[in-house]
Amino acid sequence: MANQTNQFELDVKKIRDEARQHMDKGPVTAGNTADTDRMIEILNQVVATEIVCYLRYSQHAIAASGMDRAQVAAEFVEHAAEEMQHGQRAAERVSQLGGAPDFDPATLAKRSHTEYVTVSDTDLDRMLQENLVAERIVITSYQEIIRWIGDSDPTTRRMMEDILAEEEEHADDLNDLLGN
Ligand SMILES: [Fe+2]
Ligand SMILES: [Fe+2]
Repeated sequence: MANQTNQFELDVKKIRDEARQHMDKGPVTAGNTADTDRMIEILNQVVATEIVCYLRYSQHAIAASGMDRAQVAAEFVEHAAEEMQHGQRAAERVSQLGGAPDFDPATLAKRSHTEYVTVSDTDLDRMLQENLVAERIVITSYQEIIRWIGDSDPTTRRMMEDILAEEEEHADDLNDLLGN
């Protein structure tokens, strides 16, 4: 016996009517039940976080010196490039949601979840540790964002899940270099 109450019903007439309303919102339809203003604000924090991570990794890659500098710097350069891509993806999504992507350097540090930390250029372990801390911060804050999004906006959620998976890879790379 089929469970009548769980039957999937699609009200195509309603969906067609709603699609014609608010056409100025582009891809944002009634199906997106997220608080769009808050989502834009959060995604601009992600943009700032990713840029701060890009800046920190880039500074460490160039400043690093000592025996193991080549291997460590190569990893930092790779991570920096990926952080910049993450920031650009989040900024693209802000724009799709009808917001203004915020790259304002004056407010980057304040909006970022992670900190711009510099350390002695010969202390490669400290450098690796500071970047691992930053990765662990974004892993936690992105997980919380993903839980908050829930089912409200599947596209933003999937983007954040993709980024989160790469942050976990970054943390794992750093852990390997630290010999853990
Ligand atoms: Fe990132
Ligand atoms: Fe990362």
